[in-house]
Amino acid sequence: MAEEVYRPGLEGVIATETAISFLDVEREEIVVRGYNLLDLARERTYVDVVGLLIDGRLPDDQERAVLERRLLAAAEVPAQIWEILRLLPPRMHAMDRLRTAISTLGGFDPGVERVDPEQDRESGLRIVAQAATIVANLVRVREGQQPLAPDPSRSFPANFLWMITGRDGSPAEVRVFDQALIAYSEHELPNSTFAARVIASTLADVYGALTGAVASLKGPLHGGANEAVMAMLLEAGDEEGIERWIRERLARKERIMGFGHRVYMRRMDPRAQLLKETLTRLVAERGDAEGQKLLRMCERAERLMHAEKGLYPNLDYYAAPVFYVLGIPIELYTPIFFAARTAGLVAHVVEQHAHNRLFRPRVRYTGPRGLKPA
Ligand code: ACO
Repeated sequence: MAEEVYRPGLEGVIATETAISFLDVEREEIVVRGYNLLDLARERTYVDVVGLLIDGRLPDDQERAVLERRLLAAAEVPAQIWEILRLLPPRMHAMDRLRTAISTLGGFDPGVERVDPEQDRESGLRIVAQAATIVANLVRVREGQQPLAPDPSRSFPANFLWMITGRDGSPAEVRVFDQALIAYSEHELPNSTFAARVIASTLADVYGALTGAVASLKGPLHGGANEAVMAMLLEAGDEEGIERWIRERLARKERIMGFGHRVYMRRMDPRAQLLKETLTRLVAERGDAEGQKLLRMCERAERLMHAEKGLYPNLDYYAAPVFYVLGIPIELYTPIFFAARTAGLVAHVVEQHAHNRLFRPRVRYTGPRGLKPA
């Protein structure tokens, strides 16, 4: 028998091979199909990254236009999805309503039972398109309003932001939102992607795999952190407030959301740096006093956490104020993380089905033995 190795939380364990992405912590680079994710965020659009992740290479201008039209044409959601969402208790968490909707979407895809990489790509693009429409309308539908239908005359990010806020973002706002989508699009093997691959490895379909990923992302140790960060900033109120707020929690040995990362450990998440720069530019351009205050609070807390705990911000930390200044309702922050991540998740399901090996690890048993039932 092979030597028994046990790493709690699978820390540092290589769980799969992938050609999709890799966190090169030493070089502070997030490699996505050979490109640096930050270069993609600075030079390309989210739709380009969807093409790169799901089709395997960056589209040229013409291919991007075709893909963007295809996504917008597929973005309309079956009316039954809205009816089902209306039947759910209004107090139900937005991620739980989203999980129900993603699961139900599978029933409207004629290809759902055909599990192979080609069908996964086809279904996956539908999910990328429809997840944005569902996420954008979660609050509206909970409040009993009519959902906003996607408008294919806008770009993908402009339409997504417009469906969320009900108003047209400026070109600068749409660009910031697009960059946030890219920042969230793919990140190697976090809990949600691992969950999706584990599910896909039974040859379950892409809808099942992504439904599991929504459930994983809800947790505050993962995607739920962006909403917790915003709650912290609003509760703390100002720069002195945030310092007090954090010191009190650290004294009680509590975790501060938006700091720390299993892989980056004691380094800055490059995506957090990107969104910090983006936020700095946006609030300066707009002369946004509220945004500038939030930025100062974030910087103060960042210095404090570094001095006290040696910890750095992760993506969720700066995504929260970025979404806030864009006028996005807080309960949509984690659902937007999922909508953006659909591209990466679909790529992983495609890859899992193309080179499948069932995930079935073993345990180190610590319970009793030899008990007699009678
Ligand atoms: N606040 C305070 N202390 C922290 C934090 C934090 N956010 N994160 C880690 N620590 C401390 C731990 O208490 C521990 O201290 P100790 O050694 O004195 O006990 C030490 O740092 C190591 O922490 P671990 O729990 O071993 O780190 P792990 O790899 O399990 O945790 C995690 C990673 C879950 C992300 C953690 O940093 C955390 O809880 N952060 C807050 C939640 C968060 O922001 N999640 C978003 C992740 S990124 C994303 O999903 C986009």
